[in-house]
Amino acid sequence: MPVNHTDPRSIENVAHLYERVKKVIPDIEWPIHAPHIAAINELKREKNAVILAHNYQTPEIYHCVADITGDSLALAQRAVDTDADVIVLAGVHFMAETAKLLNPDKTVLMPDLDAGCSLAESITAADVRRLREQYPGVPVVTYVNTSAEVKAECDICCTSGNALAIVESLGSDRVIFLPDEYLAAYVAEQTDVEIITWQGHCEVHERFTAEELESFRAGHDDLTIIAHPECPPDVLATSDFVGSTAQMQDYVLNERPAKVLMVTECSMSDNVSAGVDDVEFIRPCNLCPHMKKITLANIRESLESLSPAIEIDPAIAVRARAAVERMLDVGRSKMTEVAA
Ligand code: 13P
Ligand code: SF4
Repeated sequence: MPVNHTDPRSIENVAHLYERVKKVIPDIEWPIHAPHIAAINELKREKNAVILAHNYQTPEIYHCVADITGDSLALAQRAVDTDADVIVLAGVHFMAETAKLLNPDKTVLMPDLDAGCSLAESITAADVRRLREQYPGVPVVTYVNTSAEVKAECDICCTSGNALAIVESLGSDRVIFLPDEYLAAYVAEQTDVEIITWQGHCEVHERFTAEELESFRAGHDDLTIIAHPECPPDVLATSDFVGSTAQMQDYVLNERPAKVLMVTECSMSDNVSAGVDDVEFIRPCNLCPHMKKITLANIRESLESLSPAIEIDPAIAVRARAAVERMLDVGRSKMTEVAA
């Protein structure tokens, strides 16, 4: 029998979840979130669904309804393992496409199909074909922040967490690396492989400046600055640590800096600080308007209607899937090496 999702008892049943977010969500806001959280958690059971949430999702999604959270790499890896019939991707469109590529027979829901990404928008499949003509025989690595059509034209994917390892796995002295110019520059600094790049940028990370960070350093003696590699090179040069969103989170959880500034999307500091009492978070940040299109309300609607669902042209999917699977295979062989 369907559950009455506005039943006050089901709202009472999620009251304990407020403990997880009380540092970052004022108690006056909880009654707005609680009915959606109760409904979503019931709907997940009814529909055998899991919610994969990116680290940039708001705390009420990240801490109260998500089953799996992480960076783009973890979401792709964990999408392969799930037994659920339905995957809801609380993130942006390319992440939902990646989950669908890896789970062609499952329903993959994207609560708002307009949640895009400026990097994914910066390049088309035709652009990649032109680059291949310009640089014949040079392997093409695409950042996972691209459409399935673009992935289908590339040899292998990478994420911010494994970009250097993927470039070096190819055994080529020259690689085309798309579409993030700044991530490409960050990889180029650490390898002898010649990197040919594209001029795509993340609209969120390109707005940070080295001057802005220096002014925060001047105001805080013991400040640790950690940045995402989509930031411009001078911002990365001003930072103490650079890593994917998961690597940034691990840095804070393991190193416990006295004061930290996470040079990335605003929800990162909210989500990490929700469970940490001994670190002060200094919070200049930029919002990703695409990530913020996902809300508890549209996750709930999506689970109720089982739509909108991601569909990918099978001819494109087969080639795009190969690029994603090659990336995951590099990760697996590295794990085997470590275990041996
Ligand atoms: P991560 O893979 O590091 O989570 O990055 C994804 C992203 O979109 C960052 O802007
Ligand atoms: Fe794309 Fe930047 Fe938003 Fe990440 S933060 S989804 S790279 S626009």
